[in-house]
Amino acid sequence: MNYKMDYNNIFFKINTSLNKIKDHGKVASYIPELNNIDPNKFGVHLTTLNNEHYSIGDSNEKFSIQSIAKVLALTLAYKMKGEKLWKRIDVEPSGTSFNSLVQLEYNHGIPRNPLINAGAIVICDILISNLENPKKDFLEFIRELSGNKTLNFSSKTAESEKITGFTNMALVNLMKSFNNIKNDIDVVMDFYFNLCSIEMTCKELSRTFLFLTNDGIDPITNNKILSESKSKRINAIMLLCGFYDEAGEFAFKVGLPGKSGVGGGIVAIHPNKYSIAVWSPRLNKKGNSQKGMNFLEKFTTKTQSSIF
Ligand code: DON
Repeated sequence: MNYKMDYNNIFFKINTSLNKIKDHGKVASYIPELNNIDPNKFGVHLTTLNNEHYSIGDSNEKFSIQSIAKVLALTLAYKMKGEKLWKRIDVEPSGTSFNSLVQLEYNHGIPRNPLINAGAIVICDILISNLENPKKDFLEFIRELSGNKTLNFSSKTAESEKITGFTNMALVNLMKSFNNIKNDIDVVMDFYFNLCSIEMTCKELSRTFLFLTNDGIDPITNNKILSESKSKRINAIMLLCGFYDEAGEFAFKVGLPGKSGVGGGIVAIHPNKYSIAVWSPRLNKKGNSQKGMNFLEKFTTKTQSSIF
């Protein structure tokens, strides 16, 4: 039987129960600009395939989507280059932190997957080689996907990360030494830091990811963003790599393909059903939103909507 879920009521109940537990998470401070965010912000927005909307809390407030943007960069690069991408990036879970250097050396500069920092930096390099105006063209792509023509980078956040981005600079230099970065390092990192600085609301984020719930077709505009096969593969990569060394935990407890960012956002999708975005800036030790993960665990349990 198909009946309508009362998602708003479910959101309310989960939030009430989570508010009784102390959140020991910490806001990301290694990017100085993110340290200025109110740690108690909390928002959720769910968009169904039929364009129905459900939300709670600060779901209309913009935040820094950080690593969530890596999925969008991957989407555009995959759309343009197809399976050639996998000559320069693997599709294996890393089991290491998002900015880890260790595997890069013995993998000869080939990142384990496109969602860790190293992999996303290679994707940025590929986009720079293939787009006429990389930043402008990328913005246009995500503006179309989100339905918001004013979506933008935050130069403040990008500049702030540039000042402290020593590990990312080490990653790009190591990959350049293996000839897996073709463009000028500063140009690549300017694109990467801007990519991570994109700001969206939970509502925009859940809308942006709808194409991955619908075999690559944006269900609102009917635009074909990716082929069915590529869409399926991006979901597989999110499931296995979207939470770094906590990807197993997320699959185990939530059971959906998803992606996190150090701004405290998480987007998760249920193929053929919905896309949900959660924002809560306090992060656990693996750099993923503490309350966001707890919320989604309770949500897929209550709605019996894990994909497994
Ligand atoms: O490169 C970084 O470290 C950040 N701009 C993005 C990292 C991130 O969001 C990891 N996700 N949980």
